[in-house]
Amino acid sequence: MIVWDFIYHFVLDYSFTWQVDLLFSALILFMGYYTGKNYDDSNEAVKALSKSEEQVKNLNEELQLVLQNISEVVFHTDSKGEFQFLNHSWEEFTGYKLKESLHKNALHFISLHERHEFLRVLRRSISQRIEKAKMDFSFQMRNGQFRWGEVNIKLNYDENGKLAGTVGTISDITERVHNEEELLEMNETLAIESQKLSVAGQLAAGIAHEVRNPLTSINGFLQLLRDDADEKTKEYLEIVFSEIKRIELVLSELLILAKPQSVTYKRINIVETLDHVAKLLNTNAILYNIEIQTSFEQEELYIRGDENQLKQVFINLVKNAIEAMPHGGNILIKAELTDFNKVELIFKDEGVGMEKHILDKLGEPFFTTKTKGTGLGFTICLRILRDHSADINVQSEQGEGTTFSIKFDAAQQQERKKREPLYSL
Ligand SMILES: Nc1ncnc2c1ncn2[C@@H]1O[C@H](COP(=O)(O)OP(=O)(O)OP(=O)(O)O)[C@@H](O)[C@H]1O
Ligand SMILES: [Mg+2]
Repeated sequence: MIVWDFIYHFVLDYSFTWQVDLLFSALILFMGYYTGKNYDDSNEAVKALSKSEEQVKNLNEELQLVLQNISEVVFHTDSKGEFQFLNHSWEEFTGYKLKESLHKNALHFISLHERHEFLRVLRRSISQRIEKAKMDFSFQMRNGQFRWGEVNIKLNYDENGKLAGTVGTISDITERVHNEEELLEMNETLAIESQKLSVAGQLAAGIAHEVRNPLTSINGFLQLLRDDADEKTKEYLEIVFSEIKRIELVLSELLILAKPQSVTYKRINIVETLDHVAKLLNTNAILYNIEIQTSFEQEELYIRGDENQLKQVFINLVKNAIEAMPHGGNILIKAELTDFNKVELIFKDEGVGMEKHILDKLGEPFFTTKTKGTGLGFTICLRILRDHSADINVQSEQGEGTTFSIKFDAAQQQERKKREPLYSL
């Protein structure tokens, strides 16, 4: 304004007019304000721009950090399927360096016998303009080892509907596939085993029937003979009769076990059940130089349960005990009424015993230390006992033996007498 006044009054020698002076002053003030404001605005804009540039840089760094550190392989291919981007997991996953893999076709890394199927799924997805596809494939690592991967692909198309490229991830599923294969194999073996068992069971039932009939006639004829026999022969015949009784018992047990039975909870005398099991397995035990001893506090101890299922438990426990004593010995089966109205059963063997790591695993399905075991025996025992609300405890000393104790709630020990009718007609 001063420069303007100087030129106007002293150089151009114009006279002082306050309107013109005011107008020019306002004009200059406005121009000053406008230029200043513009300068400030552009300064702000430059600041904001550099800040957002920094943010973009940080974001990019974070993205790279995530991409390079996740365990999955992340890839990007062009329309021909050539790798344009791969993260570091690729090197760990395949053993190939990033440098030698980039710009190579992805199919190159898939096993030959899988390539055809992979291409088929991919082509079908592309022809139907499907955007997402998921496939499992096996591939060979650089060191020749085979592994399994699960690939999730996002297919990108251009505006003409042509494939523009893909992005996706690959996860290592080798362990999962191996576990599945193992499980499948195990199931197959189990199916074969159970098939064998049921055939054996059916055969046993058939044989038991066949043997029972002639046995009944033998028994009958021998009884006729006994009437006319002398004392010595009678004595021998008594032994024959007791042996026939044992054969009959074994046969009826076999028939019960082979036949699938419905579960019925009844009041049962567990002493009788244990006695039957001991007699049934004694023949088998003798072969291994083992004696099954029984010690029952009373002749009758009642609990509520399904007799056939409980027999299965006891047979499994005694079978395990026999198998634990390759050099023979004694197995003790005890039954007694204990405090809190419980019936306690004891199965004690003098076998090899169990180390802590075996004890920890006892009851896990399929856990076995035997070459021919299924590892289901004890699991079944636990399930049946749980259904009977029974407690089972085990004590085992390596080289000394094992003791299983099972506690059932005792049932009414005396059967209730039926009420006498009040009036008899
Ligand atoms: N009385 C015992 N003494 C020593 N080890 C035992 C005894 N009972 C069970 N075991 C151990 O526990 C494992 C699992 O027993 P389980 O009865 O479940 O299966 P298994 O006997 O191996 O096979 P299966 O019963 O199908 O023939 C056995 O392999 C054995 O190592
Ligand atoms: Mg067993």
